[in-house]
Amino acid sequence: MKIKELFSGQATQIEGEVTVRGWIRNHRKQKNMGFIELYDGSCFKSLQLVYTAEQDADGKLKGLRNGACIEVTGIVQPGFQKELIELNVKDVLLLGDCTEDYPLQPKRHSIEFLRENAYLRPRTRLFQAVFRVRSVAAQAIHTYFTERGFLYVNTPLITANDAEGAGNTFTVTTLDIADVKSGDKKTFEEICKDDFFGRHASLAVTGQLEAEVFAMAFGDVYTFGPTFRAEHSNTKTHAAEFWMIEPEMAFADLDDNMAVAEGMLKYVIRYVLENAPSEMNFFNQFVDKGLLDRLNHVLNSEFGHVTYTEAVKLLEEHNDEFDYKVFWGCDLQTEHERYLTEQVYKRPVFVTDYPKEIKAFYMKLNPDGKTVAAVDCLVPGIGEIIGGSQREDDYEKLLARMNELGLKPEDYGFYLDLRKYGSVRHSGFGLGFERCVMYLTGMGNIRDVVPFPRTVNNCEL
Ligand code: 4AD
Ligand code: MG
Repeated sequence: MKIKELFSGQATQIEGEVTVRGWIRNHRKQKNMGFIELYDGSCFKSLQLVYTAEQDADGKLKGLRNGACIEVTGIVQPGFQKELIELNVKDVLLLGDCTEDYPLQPKRHSIEFLRENAYLRPRTRLFQAVFRVRSVAAQAIHTYFTERGFLYVNTPLITANDAEGAGNTFTVTTLDIADVKSGDKKTFEEICKDDFFGRHASLAVTGQLEAEVFAMAFGDVYTFGPTFRAEHSNTKTHAAEFWMIEPEMAFADLDDNMAVAEGMLKYVIRYVLENAPSEMNFFNQFVDKGLLDRLNHVLNSEFGHVTYTEAVKLLEEHNDEFDYKVFWGCDLQTEHERYLTEQVYKRPVFVTDYPKEIKAFYMKLNPDGKTVAAVDCLVPGIGEIIGGSQREDDYEKLLARMNELGLKPEDYGFYLDLRKYGSVRHSGFGLGFERCVMYLTGMGNIRDVVPFPRTVNNCEL
């Protein structure tokens, strides 16, 4: 049986012997008795195994070490505390022993130590909680969009466009780099012609442009997949490989876009609270004391709304508190974003209508000619969690903007053509999945919500 089944329902009414398999997290030995904390990963709780010295005449149980994998048979009995159950051990089989130098000892390890032992940390209670919530949150997102009729589309991970135009892509190549460097003076295009795809290709920074293709065929679609950014920012919220959820909706304007984003975030919060209650209580107790209050408050309040121009006015009054001074036209830094959501609004807030200069080429130009129909959603503790926009659906305006920015129209042929063949108003956004998991759990570093994090100078495992 899985330990989860033992805990569900009237476990103490289970009659006869049961057999479970799992790993030993802690083994406490007393003179006449022994207690083994056994986990099998099926649920957050572990099962307490109990034996007496008499039952263990040959010392087989006493010799079991932390980390070992065992199969154990016994009788279920009520535990010491009333909601607990125990297993009175009748027999044990050592499936896989664990050596004495096992790094995970039954004590509190620092999060840095666990990060260095990334292959072992999923076995700890903290990371069992993190990765369960991550899994439940992913289900929540699929359910939210599926219930609303969205098509789930898988956009390519290898692409020939830098959709965000930020230039921080990873090149995909089969060329010998040493060769290219020492080789003759070919142009970049000429070098790429000899490459695998016959042109320059990179890992996707977003699936948006392809999602737009599908939105013009299916109406409402979403992607949920990995994205890659070679940003040299060593922060708590940036990873080189992260997952993004990108809905794209035909006929939607910026307000529709924000309504979906707010609905989705609230849905995910509610879903995780309902489906991972033990884990969420654990975070509230040991990671972030105000977590549950904060999430419940979010469920019961409307997100704030402010334009970039208004936000800049608010922030300028506090310029003496910031490392980077705010002025109209500047890109908002994390410190500004957090000030807005934590100090001013004390809840998630949508900032809209940013200057076109600091946003991507595809965003819809507002009638003022200076700002675009962009939206960022900022949340306490993190800053930006969502970035989105209404898209420029007018062929001429999009072409003009691309030319202004020096983007080559021939590199975006299909994207421009979408504006010729039945173009219509549409919008979408991208939710950073890791930042979402940080928000849900109160974990303070993106490295601790990704199973195998990739950041600058770090690509372990
Ligand atoms: O704001 P971004 O760059 O938006 C886009 O990529 C759009 N194409 C989305 C769309 O409209 N379909 O990224 C979206 C979100 C950010 O708000 C952030 O949460 C996350 O992706 N993100 C990162 N998360 C972790 N590490 C990084 N390096 C990230 N860069 C962005
Ligand atoms: Mg952004």
